[in-house]
Amino acid sequence: MRSFPTILSSARIGLEQAAQVLSNVLLRIRKELRPGVSTLELDSIAEELIRSQGAEPAFKGYVVDGRRYSHSLCISIDHEVVHGVPSIERKLEEGHIVSIDCGVRKHGYYADAAFTVGIGQISPAAQHLLKITEEALWLGIEQATPGKRVYDIAAAIQYHVERHNYSVVRELTGHGIGRRLHEVPSIPNFVPTGNWRWRFPNERLRAGQALAIEPMVAAGLPNIRVASDGWTVCTADNSLAAHFEHTVLVAVPPVVLTQW
Ligand code: MF3
Ligand code: CO
Repeated sequence: MRSFPTILSSARIGLEQAAQVLSNVLLRIRKELRPGVSTLELDSIAEELIRSQGAEPAFKGYVVDGRRYSHSLCISIDHEVVHGVPSIERKLEEGHIVSIDCGVRKHGYYADAAFTVGIGQISPAAQHLLKITEEALWLGIEQATPGKRVYDIAAAIQYHVERHNYSVVRELTGHGIGRRLHEVPSIPNFVPTGNWRWRFPNERLRAGQALAIEPMVAAGLPNIRVASDGWTVCTADNSLAAHFEHTVLVAVPPVVLTQW
C-alpha cells in the first residue's frame, strides 16, 4: 500500500487524461437519466464509453472489505448515500434523486467524480439538499490551495452543511488520488475531534497534489447502515442523501480536473 501521495508534476498530464475520459462519461450519462432507464443500462453505457477511450473502469474489481465490486458506476437513489449497485431491476423514476459516481484509470492514473441530480420534478426539499451539497463541494475545493490543511477543507464543507441543518456522513471521506484510486490523505467532510484526529491527520496541502473532494450529506441524521446487498450505504433514518465529487489539483486557484 502506498503511504505517500502522488505529487510529481509529471503526473499532471496523466491525471488530466484520466479526468477527460471520466468527464466525457459523466456528461454522457447525465443525458441518459430519465424515468424507466435501468441502472444496469447506464452502467453498460459507461463501461463501453470508458473502454472506447482507452481507459478502464476504476471501480470494477475494486475490493472493499474483502468484496469485489463488479460494475463501473455506483448509482445511489434517494436515501442511498453511495455504492448503490447497478441492476436491471432498478429503474429510475420521476421524483428520484440519483447520484452517479464513477472512477477511471488511464495509463496508470486515476480520476474520480460524482454528482447527484433529480429525475423530472423533485420536491423543493430535495432540490435544496442538492444545492447545499454542491455548494459545500465548491467551498471545500476553494480551500485546496498550497499551505492550507486537510481540516480547512473539512471545516468549509461541514460549516455549510450544518448551517442548513443537514448532516455530514462520518464513515466515508474524500481522498488523495493519483497512481491509485485512494491515496493519503483522507479528506473527511467534518473536522475530526478526539480519536478521529489520529485517523485523519491534518496534513498541510502541497502544490500539485491531487485530491478527490466528496461531501456526502444526509438531510436527516448522519448515521448510515449498509443494505442487505452488502454494498449500498443508506442513511439509517432513510432521509434523502446527496453526493458531489471532483478530482482537483492543489494550486492557486485550485484546478478542477473533472466535469459533470
Ligand atoms: N465511491 C468511492 C469514491 O468516490 C469509490 C467506490 S469503490 C466501489 O471514492 F468499489 F465501491 F465502487
Ligand atoms: Co472518491
